[in-house]
Amino acid sequence: MAIWNLGSINVDMVYALPHMPEPGETLAATSFDQGLGGKGANMSVAAARAGAHVCHIGAIGPEGKWTVDRLTEYGVDTRHIAQTDTPTGHAIIAVDPAGENQIILFPGANRALTDSQIGQALSAANSGDILLMQNETNMQAEAAKIGKQLGLRVAYAAAPFDANAVQAVLPFTDLLFLNEVEAAQLAGATGQAVQDLGVDDVIVTLGAKGARHFDARTNTVKDIPALSVTPVDTTGAGDTFTGYVLAALDRGLPMAQAMALAARAGALMVTRHGAADVIPDLKEVQEARF
Ligand code: RIB
Repeated sequence: MAIWNLGSINVDMVYALPHMPEPGETLAATSFDQGLGGKGANMSVAAARAGAHVCHIGAIGPEGKWTVDRLTEYGVDTRHIAQTDTPTGHAIIAVDPAGENQIILFPGANRALTDSQIGQALSAANSGDILLMQNETNMQAEAAKIGKQLGLRVAYAAAPFDANAVQAVLPFTDLLFLNEVEAAQLAGATGQAVQDLGVDDVIVTLGAKGARHFDARTNTVKDIPALSVTPVDTTGAGDTFTGYVLAALDRGLPMAQAMALAARAGALMVTRHGAADVIPDLKEVQEARF
């Protein structure tokens, strides 16, 4: 089967800082790097590196062709990425010595997708394929609705969190990814615990504490432990986890196994600087010693 990922493509501009800047503070970076990022692109690369066939649906600007070339090099099907007149999205990422980050997003072309582009792309999907989305593009609710009608398994990663955006796709969502903070925000917005949202599978990532799966069909909860690593950069680790979970489910692994594999991939990812360009492949993830 295939994973159809309606997702952002960003140019990540990464600044290493001695500490996060205070309001009004001017701070010199100790290093600067530029690479491929965007929650969407990161998840596409992760799923492709985990062995899935991934078709990315997205948009770039006139200067963004290199991002598409790089996605292609990483094994992603890029035929449904549109070239627009709007500049390619970018992210300004500050990373502190503990590996924590702060991100400023310029959405750009990521919010210039059209109805017809989504329809055209998804008309090539097959029932049983996965449709994945995050909250860095437009057209999420439209795509989710079409995906559901076509019999796709709709997965949504509610980041960056926006209560309205996630509530717009919830009726069509089969699999929901949240971190702990997003789960609390969603519970606050809906007045319901995440296991009562009517979504079959909800995965809540808990950072160093691992991840939790709520299975609404069996009304069960399962915890998957995290692996112990020293982080240097947490950027893209959650995206890597999501891409790996979906790739593993796509090839028929049970959820607990998919999440355990994804936890290894996420752990490896936080030991690396960067986003899409450094996502580990399946062999590295399987052979890693923690
Ligand atoms: O999740 C990490 C990503 O968030 C970065 O690659 C950046 O582009 C932002 O989208």
